[in-house]
Amino acid sequence: MQDYQLLRNVLSKNELLKRDLFGEIRKVTEGGELAIMRDTRPARWWLRRLARALLQREARALAALTDIDGVPQLMRSDHHTLLRTFIPGRPLFEYRPHSAVYFRDAAKLLRTIHRAGVTHNDLAKEPNVLVCDDSSPAFIDFQLAATTSSRGRLFRAAAREDIRHLLKHKRSYRPDLLTARERSILDTPSPPARAWMFFVKPVYLVVTRKLLGWSDREGAADR
Ligand SMILES: Nc1ncnc2c1ncn2[C@@H]1O[C@H](COP(=O)(O)OP(=O)(O)O)[C@@H](O)[C@H]1O
Ligand SMILES: [Mg+2]
Repeated sequence: MQDYQLLRNVLSKNELLKRDLFGEIRKVTEGGELAIMRDTRPARWWLRRLARALLQREARALAALTDIDGVPQLMRSDHHTLLRTFIPGRPLFEYRPHSAVYFRDAAKLLRTIHRAGVTHNDLAKEPNVLVCDDSSPAFIDFQLAATTSSRGRLFRAAAREDIRHLLKHKRSYRPDLLTARERSILDTPSPPARAWMFFVKPVYLVVTRKLLGWSDREGAADR
């Protein structure tokens, strides 16, 4: 049965990568190109509205990030589905990058994204940070991203949190590369982040692990 499913997936070039209460992520082919499809139709009925709102967030962010290397390109989206380009690579926890160039380029990529008015807001999760086949960095999964044209206080705080989350990965794999300034950023989470860790994170962990069944790696803000 499993073999049959595998064969079917290979033949149809439609591979299920992830399924949770919010829907499915599939690797598909579109016009001969590999692509990633987010589909909210299989989401639980009581989460469908939220899943669609998150999909719209991702569509808006990716539209603002057109032509940036290291970010999936938006191919199309509608009410229920979103198609983005496939980025060949491996997640951080699998590749365990050690190159200084990788961390330098990841920080540069994040600055480019922020300059476009987008904060990612989910970089603590290692599966959302890739090492591409050419060793360059990429960020995926813009469901929680915020897109703005006015860089107010909230934007700046969120951007700083993105930076802090990326630095946590650097601390995991190459702590010796951290500068004094980077260490001080790591040591001073923003007030909203502190409130999150104190009040919300314990609830979030129960919901994501017990209710949604996410693994530690997916349930993220661990580092
Ligand atoms: N553009 C992409 N290129 C390569 N792999 C991807 C891409 N988008 C998603 N994936 C793979 O699918 C998984 C789930 O996608 P993601 O957008 O992170 O969904 P979720 O929001 O449910 O976490 C990722 O962890 C990654 O392995
Ligand atoms: Mg993800």
